[in-house]
Amino acid sequence: MPSFQGEEATNYDERISRLVPGYELLHQLTQAQCQAQLSSSASILVVGAGTGKEVVALAKANPNMHFVAQDISADMLAIAEQRFDEAGISARVTCHCGDVGQLQQQFDGALCLLVLHFLADNGDKAALLKSIRQQLAPQAWLWLADLMKPETQFERDAQFIVCQQLGLSDAGVERMRHNLEHEFYPLDRMRLAELLEQCGYGIARCYFKALGFTGYAIRCQS
Ligand SMILES: C[S@@+](CC[C@H](N)C(=O)[O-])C[C@H]1O[C@@H](n2cnc3c(N)ncnc32)[C@H](O)[C@@H]1O
Repeated sequence: MPSFQGEEATNYDERISRLVPGYELLHQLTQAQCQAQLSSSASILVVGAGTGKEVVALAKANPNMHFVAQDISADMLAIAEQRFDEAGISARVTCHCGDVGQLQQQFDGALCLLVLHFLADNGDKAALLKSIRQQLAPQAWLWLADLMKPETQFERDAQFIVCQQLGLSDAGVERMRHNLEHEFYPLDRMRLAELLEQCGYGIARCYFKALGFTGYAIRCQS
């Protein structure tokens, strides 16, 4: 997994939109999904909140929602905190640097965008999904977005082409090709369904798809 510290944190916002086709749309659609499904005063856990993009999008559109922005990178969260301050939403956001399991709250919904694909399927993915589930009320929703296993042999090549069109250099594409092999642990739909069931969630409904990047709305099983 990348460290998301130092330069990897300060460059993140500029880098991510070239690496994830539809990054802005993913956040826009996730925001709309939460607004459509949750109460206007919902409390939301944002797992792997990074530089705070999804929190700001949701908080601006929903002035009574409250958030915990969780991440394991202090550098990413420091950038997020500054962003929350600039957006005037700091009073509604608590930042938590550390594991999800350290939290003791019951949230109405959770977001976990572009995080789980960095964890190996050796118990680490299940551990994070279970920790999130323990923080959620019965029948609460999880919005999960991840790079999934390619559905065709040419899907990754198409991804590299789009990333170049988004401004990624040839060297950047080579680095990405290497990173996809060594730093990502993508699931297929069957394995995701198994893991979700094992961790107390229902069926994953797709609400976003851009090549391998896929967003799912998932309801907790009570
Ligand atoms: C690709 S960034 C995504 C950030 C943000 N969700 C977004 O959509 O831009 C992945 C983030 O997940 C964080 N992360 C990695 N493993 C994590 C874990 N086990 N628990 C919480 N955050 C984690 C990283 O520190 C990083 O900030």
